[in-house]
Amino acid sequence: MKGRQRTLAVYPGSFDPITNGHTDIIERGLKVFDEVLVAILVNPEKQSLFTIDERLATIRSAYRRNKRVRVDTFSGLLADYSVRVGATVIVRGLRAVSDFEYEFQMALMNRRLDKRIETVFMMPAERYSYLSSRLVKEVFQLGGDVGGLVPAVVERRLRAKYPRRPTGRQR
Ligand code: PNS
Repeated sequence: MKGRQRTLAVYPGSFDPITNGHTDIIERGLKVFDEVLVAILVNPEKQSLFTIDERLATIRSAYRRNKRVRVDTFSGLLADYSVRVGATVIVRGLRAVSDFEYEFQMALMNRRLDKRIETVFMMPAERYSYLSSRLVKEVFQLGGDVGGLVPAVVERRLRAKYPRRPTGRQR
């Protein structure tokens, strides 16, 4: 469309690690926006399994063939970062009603901080409605199978972190 400005959507999160629920939201975002910028929050106060560099490398590797997905890190206010990079939209996934209250608060606070940014919520496929980074880490650490729940590159990195964990389905 001639003269139309490209829409950049920021998809922020901890992504420790990125799951197929996250990638599902990125793919949905690409249907609506020209570019999705995955923005990993740098939060030294929060204990994480993967370092920021590992998370950057993992997500970049998952999207290396897709020029419409960029990956970056940010610290400070998300609203400020979004304006700085030229985004007009923040995308967040809503898995269940239980996500709503926190997401609603964040969306309204971000709008108060900067009126130029709109938050758009997207629902992942039902099969990912129970999925979270926290559960992936817990299940993998306890020897469970996370195949189909995370990109292959994440599974490889989990195995590298926990070499003695079984890799197949445990019964
Ligand atoms: O994956 P998460 O942990 O649910 O993501 C939360 C995130 C990164 C979106 C949120 O913590 C955030 O935006 N932090 C940046 C600091 C900020 O802007 N705080 C005010 C938000 S209302």
